[in-house]
Amino acid sequence: MEMRIDKRALIERALGELKHAYAPYSGFRVAAALLCEDGTVYTGVNVENASYPAGNCAERTAVFKAVSEGQRRFLAIAVCGGMDGNVTDYCTPCGICRQVMREFADPERFLVIVAKSVDEYREYTLAQLLPESFGPDMLGR
Ligand code: THU
Repeated sequence: MEMRIDKRALIERALGELKHAYAPYSGFRVAAALLCEDGTVYTGVNVENASYPAGNCAERTAVFKAVSEGQRRFLAIAVCGGMDGNVTDYCTPCGICRQVMREFADPERFLVIVAKSVDEYREYTLAQLLPESFGPDMLGR
């Protein structure tokens, strides 16, 4: 069944989470709101660490929160970010996050919405951001 995606609502959720980003080292705050097939939304923020590589991106935080609560199918994610939480540009997901989303998304349908505000956003399918991707189907899953 096709579900209408309320992009503005998803972006609002992400923007509202920027205050929870933990980014004392880079100062670059990122937040994401992930829409599951059942309509549930999970948010995530970047969580940095004094041991820099131990930090986690906002998108992966959202995916891991959702999967750890039993979710497996996702429709869209809204992402926003900027220095000190000032969103002046589009923040597109890093390569690792694209691959993590690929595990649980239909690349041709899953929408990645990068937003500066509820009115100013761009959207891509995951397939556009991660072409010729490697996924669970390659392993017969
Ligand atoms: N970051 C994200 O959380 N998501 C992105 O899409 C890009 C980068 C975080 C990682 C790090 O905490 C900070 O932004 C600077 O790279």
